[in-house]
Amino acid sequence: MTDLLPDTETPDALETVGAHGDDHAHGIDESVLRRLAASWPRRATVRTDLTEITDPDTGDYDAALPDYPERLLPFAEHPLWLAATPEQRRTVQTLAWLVYNERVIAAEEYVANPTFAMIMHGVFPGADGVHTKRAVQQTHVDEVWHTYMHMVAMQRTRELREVTAEPAYPHTVTYRRLLEAEAKVSEKWERDLLKLVWTTVSEISVNAYLELLSRDETVQPLHALVPRLHARDESAHSSVMVEVAKGLYTHLNKEQQRAFVTALPEALNAFVAQDFAVWPGILKHAGFERADEIVEDCRRAAGHNLLVRDFSGIRRIVREMELTELVDFDFGAE
Ligand SMILES: [Fe+2]
Ligand SMILES: [Fe+2]
Repeated sequence: MTDLLPDTETPDALETVGAHGDDHAHGIDESVLRRLAASWPRRATVRTDLTEITDPDTGDYDAALPDYPERLLPFAEHPLWLAATPEQRRTVQTLAWLVYNERVIAAEEYVANPTFAMIMHGVFPGADGVHTKRAVQQTHVDEVWHTYMHMVAMQRTRELREVTAEPAYPHTVTYRRLLEAEAKVSEKWERDLLKLVWTTVSEISVNAYLELLSRDETVQPLHALVPRLHARDESAHSSVMVEVAKGLYTHLNKEQQRAFVTALPEALNAFVAQDFAVWPGILKHAGFERADEIVEDCRRAAGHNLLVRDFSGIRRIVREMELTELVDFDFGAE
């Protein structure tokens, strides 16, 4: 929730600060990162009281409210979904909420955190400024906390809904596409760079994913609260990552810059994609006999292939890195 941040710390304000910064050591605008690092103790979710999330005896819980909004299910209008029993639908919505969290946690654990560790370890030249390292390490701390928040939310859901068995979930689509991209290259620097690209996209765009739920009033209040708190941190992360990515990019050689630009649209697409691979197992688990047919119908139907439709963060990366002419991505209508 950016409205909880003081005015001086909103991304827009920071964008303009960058233009006038007087401390451009190492190619990264350290004046922006210095301000972000200084504000962390006041703004970070990890520094606030989260009893409502971590204490199972507090917070609102209404068993009649679904765990996940029906409108976000790709099969919400499918006749076999509409014909299902309330119990089947409730089970699918509970598992959909668990999978929503899984996708967040996978992005933190398999993409962002390994990248932040690499940045701190000096894998990418140009990130050795003191303010850069503070801001990146703070971001890394935040991400570990986000995993914890989402993990606790999942555990509470399993307890309250008495979920004792779940289907095996495939790797999330965002992470699968990273693995596929990594499998196509042979050099370590290429794999490292792919993780950097995926993290850049994730940090600048994750709010669009979190906002799918953060203001939803039809689901359990906790299921909007966790994404809303998470999004508050990510507003600052996007400003950190814009500066870090811009700075690191200037230190890449021409071949590496080309690899970065080539990978960017792949990461952008991976980030906004609907994850069709996860639904058959969930639907079968809930007793839908024609689960594969439902998902196949949705995959073939136009307009169902995107989960995230807010491209503002994605536009921002490409614009701020001055790559608009080079990146092949359909941003849709402004
Ligand atoms: Fe996060
Ligand atoms: Fe983040």
